[in-house]
Amino acid sequence: MATVGLMYNLKGEPPDDGEPPDLGAELDSETTVMAVAEALRAGGHEVVLIEGNDVAYLRLLEKPVDIVFNMCEGLRGESRESHIPAILEMLGIPYTGSGVLTLALTLDKALTKKVLAYHGIPTAPFKVFDAGEPVDVTGLEFPLFVKPLHEGSSMGVGSSSIVSSVADLEREVSRLTKMYKQPALVEEFLPGREFTVGILGNANPLVLPVMEINFNPCPAEHGKVYSRQFKVEWYQDEFYLCPAPIDDELKRAIEDLALRTYRALGCRDMARIDMRLDRNGVPNVMEVNPLPGLTPGFSDFPRIAEKGGFSYVELVNTILGCALKRYGLEHLLSSEAVLARRIA
Ligand SMILES: Nc1ncnc2c1ncn2[C@@H]1O[C@H](COP(=O)(O)OP(=O)(O)O)[C@@H](O)[C@H]1O
Ligand SMILES: [Mg+2]
Repeated sequence: MATVGLMYNLKGEPPDDGEPPDLGAELDSETTVMAVAEALRAGGHEVVLIEGNDVAYLRLLEKPVDIVFNMCEGLRGESRESHIPAILEMLGIPYTGSGVLTLALTLDKALTKKVLAYHGIPTAPFKVFDAGEPVDVTGLEFPLFVKPLHEGSSMGVGSSSIVSSVADLEREVSRLTKMYKQPALVEEFLPGREFTVGILGNANPLVLPVMEINFNPCPAEHGKVYSRQFKVEWYQDEFYLCPAPIDDELKRAIEDLALRTYRALGCRDMARIDMRLDRNGVPNVMEVNPLPGLTPGFSDFPRIAEKGGFSYVELVNTILGCALKRYGLEHLLSSEAVLARRIA
């Protein structure tokens, strides 16, 4: 049994005028934090709730925990997901999930793409533009896709993200850079099917069943984009195909791409990798989520894990178990029955 510090950042007040309408979309609700806490308790652990705020450091100094289950999306800044893990590392406290460098890197989608490209991993050609910069897309082919450089949860993403002319591109870059106060990432539009792939483990990671985002039931004017609206409103089963209806060859290609990406970015314990097929049918990585959402009945990761045979309690305890093993703390693993599988 371990004393687990469950660290999180809660959604705050609804956004004010002038703030992005989807501000805080990546943060967790109390219900999600409580679900994770309950799952950890079901795994036989003592749970201490610690908000990942600016006094977290003092709280961690005051009362030790064996390990932190990290859900912190961070409060501010382009490397916000790495802040609490950096403090934990300084204090010598073990934590679940990826490390400081991976969490900071994946919040910069362009830098992530550069690392992937180095490893020969397909990812759409791109450029980055900040507010007021000339939008020169020489070398890129329309249609293009525009999204904020440092956000997640499809913040700022919708049907207007696909642009087919310089005028539309300039309008979208200007809208995003103003609203989100950060550069815009402009990349070639990937027109094919969309998949997201969950991975659990370290030395010999397990690829969970591939999930396809099903755009067929969406209204035509919405477009084939896994938008903010899609994620909020269309969480019902019909919008997700898991396992995805794909042939063995594509399945192998997707799984292989997910594993190579996971390793190239140094992910630990878990991650979810978003990809789409390009016009030649080749899977391309769009982005990597080392801190995937864990809202039961809503988030992609628990949905995929369930199809892979992990109940919610098993998923949460497997993530914790992977981390305990990494730190050589297996003796703190209790209740073997809870771990459906042993993942190295
Ligand atoms: N290059 C692209 N081509 C086509 N669709 C894209 C592209 N980049 C992003 N998208 C769409 O936008 C969604 C959100 O983009 P993603 O990079 O996954 O950011 P987020 O961190 O917000 O999930 C994707 O799930 C996909 O539907
Ligand atoms: Mg995504």
